[in-house]
Amino acid sequence: MYLHGATVARWTPSGCDQVLWVSSASRFTPDAAIRGGVPICFPWFGAQVGHPESPSHGFARLSPWSLVAAEDDGQDVTVSLRLTDEDATGASAWPHRFEAVYTVVVGSRLSLALQVTNLSDETVSFEEALHTYFDVRDIRAAEVSGLEGTAFYDRLSGPGPVPGEPDPVRFGSETDRIYLGTRASTMVRDADAGRCVAISKDGSDATVVWNPWVDKAKAMDDFGDDEWKRMVCVEVGNIREATIHLAPGGSHTMMTTFEVSPTTGLEPGRTTL
Ligand code: BG6
Repeated sequence: MYLHGATVARWTPSGCDQVLWVSSASRFTPDAAIRGGVPICFPWFGAQVGHPESPSHGFARLSPWSLVAAEDDGQDVTVSLRLTDEDATGASAWPHRFEAVYTVVVGSRLSLALQVTNLSDETVSFEEALHTYFDVRDIRAAEVSGLEGTAFYDRLSGPGPVPGEPDPVRFGSETDRIYLGTRASTMVRDADAGRCVAISKDGSDATVVWNPWVDKAKAMDDFGDDEWKRMVCVEVGNIREATIHLAPGGSHTMMTTFEVSPTTGLEPGRTTL
């Protein structure tokens, strides 16, 4: 885990291969987000509306967070990091006073909780996402379930929402979707690796699914040309209509937990024997 962006980069529970993916081309420099693990998108997602000069996905993933506490109870390790407004954020296009506390519990499960408190005298609005890159053996044999029937914004095809699909998300081309109005748990099922990662969440009304595929991977200078095969992003968040509005002094917590299990032996796409 890095103080830079409070980015959890690796989590390898006992007996498992690594669960999170990090690009071999990630820059690990102060001016860039770590390309992998769990960058935090806050206080906006994607481009900031009306401010094309602002960094993509907000400043939290580019900021140095400070350590609040770390504790090992013999079973789990709990680490808390903190980010508050400072001169640079005060001069940004999101100039509000706030405190964000990120609590990470590492053990046989990985739990992540982002609590944001509004320290200013007016209502503050923000978007957020835990932009998790999951390692998969081959994206073409993977699927994401839990979003069946949920409408989504397809960022590749147009502004309006698209009706939900009956099947799990499968991948055969670039995929960039924001599912809205969903509190559902999801699952990354990696048939080639013989495992599933269950993703539960709380305080989140949106889920993003992203894979850049061939051309976009090539276009990103911190992403290996062939690495699109080895990752899928499933991001719990509050985005667009699910933007959080906090009254002065108010707090909001979004959390997610990941748990790995072997696949059941069902073929991809089948939920019953
Ligand atoms: C995803 C977005 O969450 O992040 C994609 O839905 C975007 O549109 C991707 O390309 C990566 O963004 P960035 O800013 O880290 O390159």
